[in-house]
Amino acid sequence: MLLHNIEDVRKEITEWRKSGLTVGLVPTMGALHNGHLSLIKKAKETCDKVVVSDFVNPIQFGPSEDFDKYPRTLEADMDLCNKEGVDIVFAPSADEMYGEGQRLSNDTLTYVCPPFFYVNTLCGKSRTGHFDGVCTVVLKLFNIVQPDYAFFGQKDAQQVIIIKKMVNDLNVPIKIIQCPIVREESGLALSSRNKYLTEQGKKDALVLSKILNNIKSCYKKGITDVSALKETAYNFLTEKHDLEYIEIVDKYTLEDKIKADDNSIALIACRVENVRLIDNIYLGENS
Ligand code: PAJ
Repeated sequence: MLLHNIEDVRKEITEWRKSGLTVGLVPTMGALHNGHLSLIKKAKETCDKVVVSDFVNPIQFGPSEDFDKYPRTLEADMDLCNKEGVDIVFAPSADEMYGEGQRLSNDTLTYVCPPFFYVNTLCGKSRTGHFDGVCTVVLKLFNIVQPDYAFFGQKDAQQVIIIKKMVNDLNVPIKIIQCPIVREESGLALSSRNKYLTEQGKKDALVLSKILNNIKSCYKKGITDVSALKETAYNFLTEKHDLEYIEIVDKYTLEDKIKADDNSIALIACRVENVRLIDNIYLGENS
């Protein structure tokens, strides 16, 4: 069922609650691919009812980012959700989410601001305000749907860490389920932004997963010095790659490491054909 209004979503969910059903929420910005579908499948396994939100959230995009050209494919998204047995696709307008004609700024609206360190490291360094925008919309979705469980991908590792922090700090009574990264056979992590890449760009984009896999295999061979591990990235980069960062940090706290260990995560952000791509890998796990 496709719903655009908060009121209609609430009505449906109230009925489910009366029957004692559990509810799972999968927040998305649409342009659904198999990565999103893995979250939806996990939600279907875990909960009686599943809500997918499909909303390109304006307040998490910077002024020079791709908000206007971000792919919007609601019809195709609906087909996929129907196939997966999703109960509600919630696709609000910005007016519905933030109030009609509302100026979208933290001068006029209440924002959720996670701690400085979490939002200003890694992706936050180049995306000022991004994680405030993410947490604000996610908390609003949590309040609208009031799910028992919410599902997020490890693909956006910093995002899920920050959301867990918000849920913990603000006593939000929702269990966050983190799902593994879904990749193409080539190793490229699925992303709605892969649509911007040419065929050649997709090949060039394999550098992200190659760098991460190489760091992990060096770690497994016994190299733990973080600067030495990071240095190996440069063997793969060419003029086609505009590296934003490569970091190895603690997978729970995002704090820098000097020596990598089994709690480390390696993360990369790199532009290919001017498309900003991110990827990450846990060093301690076997997958
Ligand atoms: P979006 O980029 O649409 O992603 C929605 C969810 O799908 C996120 O939890 C993301 O980590 C997950 N996802 C994306 N690609 C994946 C992949 N290859 N494998 C596994 N999971 C993947 O992230 C957002 O939207 C927004 O910031 C949102 C949380 C919806 C707030 O607006």
